Amino acid sequence: MTDNSRTAIVTGGAKGIGAAIVRRLSRYGAAVAIVDLDETAAGELAAELPDAFAVAADVGDHAGLTQAFSQACDRLGGLDVLVNNAGWDHVQPFADTSPDLWDKLLHINLKGVFNATHLAIPRLVARGGGRIVNVASDAGRVGSSGEAVYAACKGGTIAFTKSIARETARHGITVNCVCPGPTDTPLLEEIKRDERARATMDAIVRATPNRRLAQPEEVAEAVAFFAAAPAHVTGQVLSVSGGLTMAG
Ligand SMILES: NC(=O)c1ccc[n+]([C@@H]2O[C@H](COP(=O)([O-])OP(=O)(O)OC[C@H]3O[C@@H](n4cnc5c(N)ncnc54)[C@H](O)[C@@H]3O)[C@@H](O)[C@H]2O)c1
Repeated sequence: MTDNSRTAIVTGGAKGIGAAIVRRLSRYGAAVAIVDLDETAAGELAAELPDAFAVAADVGDHAGLTQAFSQACDRLGGLDVLVNNAGWDHVQPFADTSPDLWDKLLHINLKGVFNATHLAIPRLVARGGGRIVNVASDAGRVGSSGEAVYAACKGGTIAFTKSIARETARHGITVNCVCPGPTDTPLLEEIKRDERARATMDAIVRATPNRRLAQPEEVAEAVAFFAAAPAHVTGQVLSVSGGLTMAG
């Protein structure tokens, strides 16, 4: 890490890709606040690491997240890096879904990103700059059957990344986005309990030039790159999907 990536908040950092990001940032010397709904898993991960701690919060709840950020930033002594990683998905054809499901997907995957970014910006400005890294999805770049609203949230996260990158560049803040393809995590295991979703995922893997899932550590490596990248690297979208999606 660099001098300006010493303290970090990772949302959804207790498991899967988020846990790999927490480990990766911690290994390179950052103090990390793991902000997650699952306080137990976050606490267990923090206990393994030299300078990490857990803060329980739902990213979609602005009031709760405001408290969590105050607690985290007091303990960190300031904020250099925000990783918006928390996410959730449920695979189902759009015609069969309900407005309640849309609300839940929007709450976590899009409003959660707005909330955390809104809380981070003034703290990063106070530090004289910083890094925001959003974890979206290739579903947000190319669409995905059975994930229409999730994909809309992730496409929204990509557009939000670019807009906030424009707004905050003058403060020395960069905002970039990592788009994983199917990745070997608890979320994917849950999705694959559904037979049709499992068939879709298997078809995606067959269509992937690397012919395998991503490992969480591979996604974490891309996040760590943006967390320490030069100030001129901003508003960018990087897929980690074995060649499934290639930028033009
Ligand atoms: N696994 C994949 O195939 C895949 C593919 C593309 C994108 N992604 C994205 O990567 C990110 C991480 O996914 P993952 O596969 O590691 O998921 P995961 O389910 O394995 O882990 C997600 C973590 O986020 C936490 N979380 C969920 N909702 C939360 C909320 N409202 N507030 C705070 N924490 C919350 C969970 O407790 C968990 O610790 C997500 O944004 C997901 O959309 C995953």
